[in-house]
Amino acid sequence: MKQYEIAFKTLAILSDGLFHSGEMIANELGFSRVSIWKAINDLKKLNVEIFSVRKKGYRLPKAIKILSEKKIVEALGELSQFVNFELLNVIDSTNKYLLNQSKNKPHATVVCSNLQTNGKGRRGRVWQSALGESITMSILWKFNFGASQLSGLSLVIGIALQRVMQKIGIYNSSLKWPNDVLVDANDDLKKIAGVLIELQGDMESRCSAVIGVGLNFDLSTKQQKKIDQLATSITSVSSKSHDPNEIVSLIIKEIVNVLSDFEKTHFESFKTEWLDSRAFKDQKVQFQKGSGEKITGNIIDLDDDGSLLLLKDDGKIEKLLSGEVSSI
Ligand code: BTN
Repeated sequence: MKQYEIAFKTLAILSDGLFHSGEMIANELGFSRVSIWKAINDLKKLNVEIFSVRKKGYRLPKAIKILSEKKIVEALGELSQFVNFELLNVIDSTNKYLLNQSKNKPHATVVCSNLQTNGKGRRGRVWQSALGESITMSILWKFNFGASQLSGLSLVIGIALQRVMQKIGIYNSSLKWPNDVLVDANDDLKKIAGVLIELQGDMESRCSAVIGVGLNFDLSTKQQKKIDQLATSITSVSSKSHDPNEIVSLIIKEIVNVLSDFEKTHFESFKTEWLDSRAFKDQKVQFQKGSGEKITGNIIDLDDDGSLLLLKDDGKIEKLLSGEVSSI
């Protein structure tokens, strides 16, 4: 049995946001009432808020959308033959899970979790996510070449996410180098998605990448308060309602597309698309280097390896390989 199987089956019933009695859940699922009571306690221990009211039963604070392996695999269509898709109920980090298991998992394994409890962000940060509020997934890609040929990979994943935004009707999104997806919400650029790529293997012969994607789906105010930067979600910036299963399948399709092209052409064929999608066009930005040093200037171009070319205030162009861009 999958970890938290009864808990997540119970959650699927509660996901409509209405009251359901323990007895009714037990009958529907074919488990004992004690198992359902334990399942509810397991969910509470995972910080899932559940109201219990005598004679009425259990209820979530609001309706939520839970991921379904069946729906995602169906939406993948033919690609489901190529991708090894796994849906977990709970995991600390989908990246960590895939990094630990990469030797035993086939190429193009995709792991998605309904709840991620200790997500990793870029530059040692924590990626905040909560049940029904975030899409958290990782893709294992085994390259037939070494890590020295992966320059620009992280920007290419940003392009895949930007294409997904267009496909679901979010047209005011842009890319912050290297791969944050931002959305213009009331004249503020807010982060909607981030990417963390972790590499294993060799510089020259072969390597694997675990590509982690976190996308805010329906951020609650409580969750938003935990995030230390401007953030938004699909539901806040969309006028129509979205099915997270569809979005997961679109992310997989677009990432597989870009990775297949990247294997042939490397970063070169993506440069123009990235530049066209970039945030802060004609705007001065601040760049904080890994060392902490801050410089300001305009993003004028990308080098062929995906590094940023910044025209500084002193008129010189600096090539930047790692660090953080922010608006000023
Ligand atoms: C960032 O800092 O912008 C990168 C965020 C990446 C978060 C995702 S969520 C799924 C995957 N698993 C993790 O632990 N992190 C990535």
